[in-house]
Amino acid sequence: MSPNSASPVSLTRHLLEEQRAGRINADLRLLIEVVARACKSISIAVGKGALGGVLGDAGSAGEASINIQGEAQKKLDVLSNEILMEANAWGGHLAGLASEEMDHSVPISDAQPRGNYLLLFDPLDGSSNIDVNISVGTIFSVLRCPDGVGQPGDEHYLQPGTDQVAAGYCTYGPSTMLVLTIGHGTHAFTLDREIGSFVLTQRGMTIPEDTKEFAVNMSNQRFWEAPMQAYVGDLLAGREGPRGKDFNMRWVASMVADVHRILTRGGIFSYPLDSKCAAKGGKLRLMYEANPMAFLVEQAGGAASTGRQRMLEVQPTGLHQRVPVFLGSRAEVEAAVKYHAEHDAG
Ligand code: AHG
Ligand code: MN
Ligand code: MN
Repeated sequence: MSPNSASPVSLTRHLLEEQRAGRINADLRLLIEVVARACKSISIAVGKGALGGVLGDAGSAGEASINIQGEAQKKLDVLSNEILMEANAWGGHLAGLASEEMDHSVPISDAQPRGNYLLLFDPLDGSSNIDVNISVGTIFSVLRCPDGVGQPGDEHYLQPGTDQVAAGYCTYGPSTMLVLTIGHGTHAFTLDREIGSFVLTQRGMTIPEDTKEFAVNMSNQRFWEAPMQAYVGDLLAGREGPRGKDFNMRWVASMVADVHRILTRGGIFSYPLDSKCAAKGGKLRLMYEANPMAFLVEQAGGAASTGRQRMLEVQPTGLHQRVPVFLGSRAEVEAAVKYHAEHDAG
């Protein structure tokens, strides 16, 4: 059967068409293919669960293994990081890699062919959910290596989110899905497990502009700053309050799963500043979580902000920098931003 417009479009075919349309080059296409292949391996490991011996904490002799974020690593955090590192080391499309789980970025060694891209990832997002069989994911972001830099150091990754050339996530839920942008819309692919290939299942995801659904960890309420208290207070006041409508709440505690719901049916996701994480600047990581998600959300017609600045315009100062996050349905993100602006203006 010859391929036609009615036949399923694989990720490979989609990327080739993007290359023929002049939107990506062969190196970036290969890079995305390699990341997708690594995500398939992670999906298999996640899917085996207890049978694969992958649940529980990393570390040995009762000693927890702690990463650069100061967080205890799960076995699957370590394994997913290894899978992504191994898959991407030898392709010739990268100049270096950086991961939420590693202290510093890693340049591609002189022994390997080197390309022009930098890959950043959160190998396993939502790892508190691994042991309870709830969706987890992988998030990635691609930047260009600055001209003339052969062996990139951490400082070469400190580019604002507007410089991303691609971003995506893979969600390991009831089905495994890859959601991708190269700056021309946000598209979703579902893993066909029998064939082993990602198939385009939603072209041009669009986030509804308005919403009645918010996602936040309410247990942090008493630690939030004043504008967030006021904003959520008004959401909870519902129809009788100033917002004039009742809101629903969802919180998976896997950013990938929460953002996937919002890309699918709208909503606002927030992890605001609170007094517990204020010294670090927030909870979520700019380079591995906030920026790639902001790129995907903007490309789907939504908005992403720190509450005070467009996320993609934040000039990073550190590889593991953290930021407050508000993203999702455009009008609702703008409403949250307004509470901050009005508070700051006194
Ligand atoms: P990670 O597992 O990569 O450390 O990320 C967890 C993040 C994010 O996925 C989620 O939205 C948030 O942390 C959950 O935080 P709480 O446990 O405070 O709800
Ligand atoms: Mn994460
Ligand atoms: Mn993680």
